[in-house]
Amino acid sequence: MMGSVGGGGSPEQDQPVCVTGATGYVGSWLVRTLLRRGRRVHATARDPVKARRMLSAVEGKERLRVFRADMAEEGSFDDAIIGCATLFHVAASMDLHLSPDQHDAEERVRSQVLEPATRGTINVLRSCVRAGTVRRVVFTSSVSTLAAAGSEGSVVDESCLRDLGDVWATKPIGWVYILSKRLAEEAAFGFARENGLRLVSVVLPTVAGPFLTPAVPTSVQLLLSPITRIYC
Ligand SMILES: NC(=O)c1ccc[n+]([C@@H]2O[C@H](COP(=O)([O-])OP(=O)(O)OC[C@H]3O[C@@H](n4cnc5c(N)ncnc54)[C@H](OP(=O)(O)O)[C@@H]3O)[C@@H](O)[C@H]2O)c1
Repeated sequence: MMGSVGGGGSPEQDQPVCVTGATGYVGSWLVRTLLRRGRRVHATARDPVKARRMLSAVEGKERLRVFRADMAEEGSFDDAIIGCATLFHVAASMDLHLSPDQHDAEERVRSQVLEPATRGTINVLRSCVRAGTVRRVVFTSSVSTLAAAGSEGSVVDESCLRDLGDVWATKPIGWVYILSKRLAEEAAFGFARENGLRLVSVVLPTVAGPFLTPAVPTSVQLLLSPITRIYC
């Protein structure tokens, strides 16, 4: 866990927990885990039919409600978040196939990836404020936003966040993804501070293992790519 703002007590166990991105690799496991722990879960998906199909066999599914919500639509998360004590914001677009060689690559990255990612995250957080019941928001960040080089010893913390100017200038592998996660996280912390939301950012490493999704998750493809030679 990297940073946090706000303060207060632990969430009520009997209030539902909202998870965005329930049709994704991480989101589907999170929904399953929360249900197995006896929690009531409000899962959001752009395609609720897909979500229900994926989660149809999970233990505790009688405590699951699925809501349609899209980060691109203002107010879309209101119904799912209302009454929830905690929000896990897991949804993010992983479709970042923009070539840095295109003449207008930077402008397209800004308008087609970075702005929607940030706007979508704020859209979700606005629903939390409107709900008035959310005590804790968990943002899902990525290890790719950190640079281990230059850190003291083996500890990697907030001081190791990649410099945005450097990412723009050098365009390392995954640069669009790095920027989208960094900017969305930064905007989320700013919004949380201004609106009194308790927000923590959990930094995920590259995740691998069994999956509930119908397709092989991007991160599993990435980890297998030295063997399969299929690069995503
Ligand atoms: N997997 C990893 O190794 C890893 C590592 C570090 C951080 N993370 C972070 O963990 C989170 C989940 O990653 P993942 O691997 O589970 O990705 P994933 O399998 O691609 O899942 C992404 C989820 O986000 C949803 N989504 C995308 N665009 C959306 C939009 N506009 N509105 C609403 N939902 C939208 C997708 O819905 P659809 O099914 O409709 O496309 C899907 O449910 C992301 O924030 C990612 O950055 C993952």
